[in-house]
Amino acid sequence: MKRFALLGEPLGHSLSPLLHKAIYRQLEIDDASYRTVELAEDRLKAFFSGFRVGGFDGVNVTVPHKANVIPLLDEVDPKAQLLNAVNTVHRIDNRLIGHNTDLLGFAYSLSSNEVSIAGGEFAIIGAGGSAQAVGAVFAEGEAKQVSILNRTPERAETLKRLIQEVNPAVKVELVDAQGLAKRAKYLDCVVNTTSVGMAPNSKETPLESAICEQLFSPETVAFDLVYNPLKTAFLAAAEKQGAPTINGLQMLVAQAVHSVEIWMGGNIVAHVDMNSLVRDLEKAIK
Ligand code: ATR
Repeated sequence: MKRFALLGEPLGHSLSPLLHKAIYRQLEIDDASYRTVELAEDRLKAFFSGFRVGGFDGVNVTVPHKANVIPLLDEVDPKAQLLNAVNTVHRIDNRLIGHNTDLLGFAYSLSSNEVSIAGGEFAIIGAGGSAQAVGAVFAEGEAKQVSILNRTPERAETLKRLIQEVNPAVKVELVDAQGLAKRAKYLDCVVNTTSVGMAPNSKETPLESAICEQLFSPETVAFDLVYNPLKTAFLAAAEKQGAPTINGLQMLVAQAVHSVEIWMGGNIVAHVDMNSLVRDLEKAIK
C-alpha cells in the first residue's frame, strides 16, 4: 500500500483527499491512500523523521508550511527553491525531494483555456506565495509585461524582483487600481491571487466594480485562483463585461495530478481526464 498525505493547518475543508482518491480511481490504482495530517510548525520535524524512514511515500504541503519544510528536505528542485515554496515531497528510499507543482497547475490551466503567455501582457492582484508561482509562470513563458497590484508595496517589490530574476526581459510595473485600469486595452489576463472573495466572504472583491467595468472586455480574461465559490464576485463582475473567466479549480486539479505523476512516475498528466476531475470537485463545492 502506498501512503500519501496533505500537511497543513488548518485543513478542515480540504478537497484534496476527495481529489486524490478520484485520481487514483481514474488510474485504477487501488493500493494507494491519501489523508490529511494537521500539524503545527513545532511538530514538523518529528513528522519528517517518520516520513523519511517510510511513514509515507509522498506528501503535499499547504499553508502555512510550504517554506517551513524546506530545511527538512535532502533536495529541492530549482523552481521550488526559487519560490521558497514546496507543495510536493517525494520520498525515494530515505531521501526527501521537494517540488512545486502549483506552477505546473497554473500553466496547465492557462494553456487549456488557450491563454498564451509569450509576448502577452498580464496583471497579478496580490503578491504572496500564490502570486509568486503565477509570476514565475509568466516570466518563464516570456510575457512582455506584468503589472502588480498589491496592498503592501514591499511585497509587490519582492514579487517584481522574483519575476525579473526568472526573466530579466519582462517589464514589471507596480500599479494601483487606477493604473491597472489604464492598461485595460493591452491586458490579456488579470489574475486574482488573494483570498478576497473566498467563502464565506463571497460578496467581497479584490477590485471595485467601477474598476472592473473599465478593466474587462471580451479581450481580457479574468482568472481567480479562488474556487469556492466557483464564480466569485470578481469573476461575475468580469463576466458582466463579456470577459472569459477561469476559476481556480482546474489549477487545483492539475497541481494534484502533477504531484501524483512525481510520486508514481509515468506519463500520468497526459492520461488523466482533468475535466472529469473538475466536475467531481464542482459537485462537492456546489
Ligand atoms: P497565498 O500563499 O495564498 O498567496 P499569502 O502569501 O498570505 O497567501 O498572500 C496573500 C496575498 O493576498 C497578499 O499579497 C495579501 O496582501 P498583503 O501583501 O498586503 O498582505 C493579499 N491579501 C490578502 N487579504 C487581502 C485583503 N483583504 N485585501 C487586499 N489584499 C489582500
